Amino acid sequence: MKQVRISIIGFGSVGQGVAEVLMKKQDYLTKMGLDIKVIAISDSKGSFINQNGIDLNSALEQKRQKGTVANVQKTGVEIINEIEHDVVIETTPTNIEDGGVGLENMLASFENGRHVITSNKGPLALKYKYLVDTANLSGCKFKFEATVGGAMPIINLIKGVLAGNDILSIQGILNGTCNYILTRMLEEEASYEQMLAEAQERGIAETDPTYDVEGIDAACKLVILANSVFDMDSTYKDVDSVGITKITPESMLLAYNDGYVTKLIGEVRNGKLSVGPRLVPVGHPLSVGDTLNVASVQTDLAGPVTITGRGAGSIETASAILSDLIAICNNDN
Ligand code: HSE
Repeated sequence: MKQVRISIIGFGSVGQGVAEVLMKKQDYLTKMGLDIKVIAISDSKGSFINQNGIDLNSALEQKRQKGTVANVQKTGVEIINEIEHDVVIETTPTNIEDGGVGLENMLASFENGRHVITSNKGPLALKYKYLVDTANLSGCKFKFEATVGGAMPIINLIKGVLAGNDILSIQGILNGTCNYILTRMLEEEASYEQMLAEAQERGIAETDPTYDVEGIDAACKLVILANSVFDMDSTYKDVDSVGITKITPESMLLAYNDGYVTKLIGEVRNGKLSVGPRLVPVGHPLSVGDTLNVASVQTDLAGPVTITGRGAGSIETASAILSDLIAICNNDN
C-alpha cells in the first residue's frame, strides 16, 4: 500500500467537498493501493493537525458546528512549512488582485518539495508561467484541473486523452452563473439583475458577482486553459472581455426567434483571447443551458471534440481534485 500524506489548505465548500469525496472513495482508493492520510486541515481561523491521519467525519462535523476546524493557531503556510507531507490540496478562495494567500501557499509548497493540487484560479490567472516554472525547478507536480470548468475535465482531456493532436482553437462557456442567468432571462423574459439573485441562491456565483457578470471569472479560466494548452504566459488582463450586463431579454428573444441563443463564450484562437456574448445556433454543441459549462476543442487529428459538465459545486470540483490526486499518486503527468 502506498501511503500519501496530504493537507487540505482552505476548508470552505471545495475543501469540505474534498474531505467528503475522500471518505466516499476510501474503498476505491484502497483497491488502487493508495492509503491517503489527511494530516492537516487549515481554514481562515487556524489548523487541525493529526500526524496519524485526521478523522474526516469529525473534522466536517466540527466545521459544521463551530464554523472552524482549528485547534491550533497555525496558518496554512505554517502547516506547509512545518509539517512533513507529500501533497498540498490548495482550496483557499480566489484572489485575482495579487493571488493572495493562495499564491503564498503554492510557493511555500514548492519550496518544501510538496506537490500542489488547486482549485484556486487567482494565482494561475496572474502568474501562470512563474508558478509552473517554480514547480518544475522544485521537482514538484502542479495540477489544477479544478480551476477550469469544475468537474468538466478539459485540461486533462486535452493533455492526456488528446495527446499528440495539435489544438487549433478552443471555445466554450466557462462561467455557470452567466449561463444560468442567460438561460433564465430567455425563459422568463426577465432582466439580468432579477436572474442574478436566482443564480446567487444556487450558490455558484462568486462572492462578488461582478466577477461573473463582467466576464472576469470566465477570462481567468480561459487564461489558465490557454496557458496550459498553448504554453502561453498571459494573465486575465490580456483577455478582451465583455460581460453580460448590457444584454436585454428583448434582444435575446429576437435572436431566439431567428434560431439563436445568446451565450457568454470564451475563445482562444491564433494566440488571441476573448470573452463576450455571442449568438450560438439553437441545438449547436455549445448551446447548453442552466449552470452547465461546455468546451469545444478543434484538433488536427480528432477534429472537433466537445465536452460539457458541471462547472461548479463542492463535490463536482472535488471530483477534479481527486482525479489530479490519483494522477500524482500514480506518477502520471
Ligand atoms: N462563479 C463560478 C461560475 C464558480 O459561476 O462558474 C466556478 O468557478
